[in-house]
Amino acid sequence: MNTNDSVITDYTSTDDAAVVRLSDGKIILQTVDFFTPIVDDPYTFGQISAANSLSDIYAMGGKPLFALNIVAFPIQKLSNTILSEIMQGGADKAAEAGIPIVGGHSIDDNEPKYGLVVTGEAIEKNIWTNAGAKPGDHLILTKPIGTGIISTAIKKEKASKSITDAASDSMKELNKKASEIAQSLQPNAVTDITGFGLIGHLIEVCNASNVSANVYFKEIEFLPGAIDLVNEGIMPGGSKRNLDHAENFTTFSSNLSFNQKLLVCDAQTSGGLLISLPPKDAKKFLNQFGEKAKIIGEIQPRKTKPITVKF
Ligand code: CO
Ligand code: CO
Repeated sequence: MNTNDSVITDYTSTDDAAVVRLSDGKIILQTVDFFTPIVDDPYTFGQISAANSLSDIYAMGGKPLFALNIVAFPIQKLSNTILSEIMQGGADKAAEAGIPIVGGHSIDDNEPKYGLVVTGEAIEKNIWTNAGAKPGDHLILTKPIGTGIISTAIKKEKASKSITDAASDSMKELNKKASEIAQSLQPNAVTDITGFGLIGHLIEVCNASNVSANVYFKEIEFLPGAIDLVNEGIMPGGSKRNLDHAENFTTFSSNLSFNQKLLVCDAQTSGGLLISLPPKDAKKFLNQFGEKAKIIGEIQPRKTKPITVKF
C-alpha cells in the first residue's frame, strides 16, 4: 500500500505499531499535537492541524518521516463527510510535507478533535535547541502574529471572510521551507511560535541560552484584522494568561498600550519559526525566504530581565 520504501509495517499489515528503518547515525524525533476545530471548514481545519503537528519537527531542524492520525469525532451527531474532509486535509498536508500517514487511532467523542503524531529524523550534531542563542544574533520570525485573536473572533462570528482566509492560509502553511533554508545556514537557536506566544517562546530561548533579547513592536507583522479585533475587545484567555506570565520577565516600553502588549503575547496555532542567527546569515535567510520573514529583534548579553519590548 505505502509508497515510501522506509516503511516496514503500516496499517495494511495489522501489526501493533508502525516500524520505520533509520539509516546509520540518524536520530529519531517524535511529536504529537491535536485540538478542536479553530475554523469552520473541515478540510481547512485538517490542513491547519497537520501543519501545526509537523512544525515541531521542522523547529528542531529535522526531516519528517511519517505520521499517525489522532481523531475524536461525534459519530452519531455529525456526518461522516465532515470527518473525511478533516482527514483529507491532514493527508494532503502530509503529502505536501512528503510523508505518508501510516495509521492512527479514532474514538467517539462529543467534540471533534484532530491532529498527528509525527516521527522525524535528524543528525544529532545538527539539531537545534533553544540553548544556543548568542549576543549579536538577529531574531527572525517567519509568519505574522495574531491567529489566537482571529480564531477567537471566528468563534464569536466577528471575523470577516478575508480575515479568516488570511489567518487560515498562514496557519496551514508548513514551516518546511523556513526550516530547510535555516538548515543551510546553521542558526544558533530555533523554536516555533505556538501556545505561549512570541514573547513566551522567546523567554524560553533566552533562559535556555542565558541571554536577553530586544524586540521591536513596529517590526512585527500582524495578520490582517488582528490589531482591529483586539481594539474591538477580542482578547483570548490564553493570550491574557501569556501576558500575565510575560510581565514577570519583560520590560515593556511605557509607550506600548495594553493591546499592543497583548498582541505580542497572543497564543499562536501553527505559528512561524523564530530563528536566532548572526546578522550576515539573517540577511541570507531573508534573501532566500522572501519578505514574509521579518527581523523583529536581536539577542543581547544577559540582563536582569530576559526580554525588552520597545515600540
Ligand atoms: Co505541541
Ligand atoms: Co514547538
